[in-house]
Amino acid sequence: MSFSDPARYDRFMGRWSRCLAPQFIRFSGIGDGQRVLDVGCGTGSLARALLATGKEVRVDGVDPVEAFVEYARHAASNDERAVFRASPAETLPYDDKTFDAALALLVLQELADPVQAVREMARVTREGGRIAACQWDFVDGMPMLSLFWRAAEMVAPAKVAARRAKTPSRRVNGPGDLAEVWRQAGLADVATTILEIPMRFCSFEDYWRPFRAGATPTTDFAETINSETEGKLERTLRGLITDIEPDGSFVLRAQAWAVAGCARHARASAA
Ligand SMILES: C[S@@+](CC[C@H](N)C(=O)[O-])C[C@H]1O[C@@H](n2cnc3c(N)ncnc32)[C@H](O)[C@@H]1O
Repeated sequence: MSFSDPARYDRFMGRWSRCLAPQFIRFSGIGDGQRVLDVGCGTGSLARALLATGKEVRVDGVDPVEAFVEYARHAASNDERAVFRASPAETLPYDDKTFDAALALLVLQELADPVQAVREMARVTREGGRIAACQWDFVDGMPMLSLFWRAAEMVAPAKVAARRAKTPSRRVNGPGDLAEVWRQAGLADVATTILEIPMRFCSFEDYWRPFRAGATPTTDFAETINSETEGKLERTLRGLITDIEPDGSFVLRAQAWAVAGCARHARASAA
């Protein structure tokens, strides 16, 4: 997936990263005084949540997209405990064992070779330091998107089928697959869990407006299909939302798979 605009991405999906980040940090077991790497930092939701834990952490955020790095730096109000720089996960610009922990929030699904990225995260983390990641359960745990796709299928089935045919199949389809990536990368004490957040929308507009913001290929698709069907996509999607409160608000529960393990470095053999 490519992301074109950090502010729009933040309104569409980044707002939910912010909700998920504190749970992910607790699962990752970040301790006081640690220096933590935030891989694929995007708009910096995880970095800011780390700074807000009250623990004396320092954070280095990396992302290959310069616009995200700039956004994250600005959003952290130039907090001197956080630094951001442009880099892909697969080749990190740090010495071995620089960090106490390396985390990736909702990034692995973007990577062609997640095992290589996780090995690299382990390389820059001290012996025994935690390497953790999580990603949305796009299979069964993301009604915010699955409702949209159901509506799109109802109004433009051929377009949805054509798009699906062009979309590469997902490499990670459950916590077991994530654990397998961690083991292949040589990590010890691998554990997984499922994290859950309520996505609270104050109105249908609050839910739908970000789909029209053009932040990602999904939102570009939404905008195209909605205008081609003269608003039928929006009306259909509105009809699929249930359990709406009298004030128009509603909640969609979202789940993410999380995995953590410990870095293990080969010992230098005795001469
Ligand atoms: C879904 S966003 C998540 C961003 C952020 N972690 C969050 O939770 O809001 C995925 C991020 O992965 C970044 N990304 C894409 N390819 C990457 C790579 N090879 N290495 C590191 N990050 C990558 C994107 O630029 C984007 O910021």
